Amino acid sequence: MEFKKIVQQRRSVKSYDPEKAISDAELKELFDEVVLSPSSFNLQHWTFIAVKEPEMKKKFREAAWGQPQVEECSVSILVCGRLDGYKDAPKIYDEVPTEVQKKVLPMIHDFYEGKEQLQRDEAIRSASLAAMSLMYGAADRGWATGPMIGFDPEAVSTLLKLTPNMIPVMIIVLGHQKDAPRPRAYRHPVGDVVRWNASDGPGLNGA
Ligand SMILES: Cc1cc2nc3c(=O)[nH]c(=O)nc-3n(C[C@H](O)[C@H](O)[C@H](O)COP(=O)(O)O)c2cc1C
Repeated sequence: MEFKKIVQQRRSVKSYDPEKAISDAELKELFDEVVLSPSSFNLQHWTFIAVKEPEMKKKFREAAWGQPQVEECSVSILVCGRLDGYKDAPKIYDEVPTEVQKKVLPMIHDFYEGKEQLQRDEAIRSASLAAMSLMYGAADRGWATGPMIGFDPEAVSTLLKLTPNMIPVMIIVLGHQKDAPRPRAYRHPVGDVVRWNASDGPGLNGA
């Protein structure tokens, strides 16, 4: 589908047809695209936990403020950020020339080591970019998605057995839409949100 159409058609969908599933093979194809998302130093600070079994989705829904879409969609995905993604650098840079490794690996280590806020920011940044790829990739296939932050992070972390180096960033529900979502809500005008040169600069108001 033309990218402009994907962007225009993507909506946060709450109503799913529980009878229509997305197969594992289809999901794999989507994730083959998702993992091409950008991340700083290519560290790929993301992990996805996909839940499709009915009993598990039911529990997942309970941990997500009871929101029905978590249970009714085809697959509920917890997008997680990895706080220690920088520790993968030796593996990621394994095939680059030794001179590059010698330069980049200490740089990455020093950039992240001991910096908890940065590790968290980066985990959320990278996971969020991947989440957006997931939503657009799904839209390209005619599937519906919904990003969600309405969940209890501790309950979700326990249920899905997150390890201490993982943080839950958002849930994305994925499936086939049942009822059409409400009309698209208010968007700030581009002229208000895009500024030239500084936050108090003139707004972008092209003809
Ligand atoms: C990080 C994030 C968290 C969200 N959490 C929820 C949620 O818990 N439940 C829900 O129904 N919608 C949730 N939404 C959907 C937003 O309400 C929706 O994106 C927004 O109203 C714009 O609508 P649109 O995506 O259809 O354009 C969330 C969206 C984002 C990006």
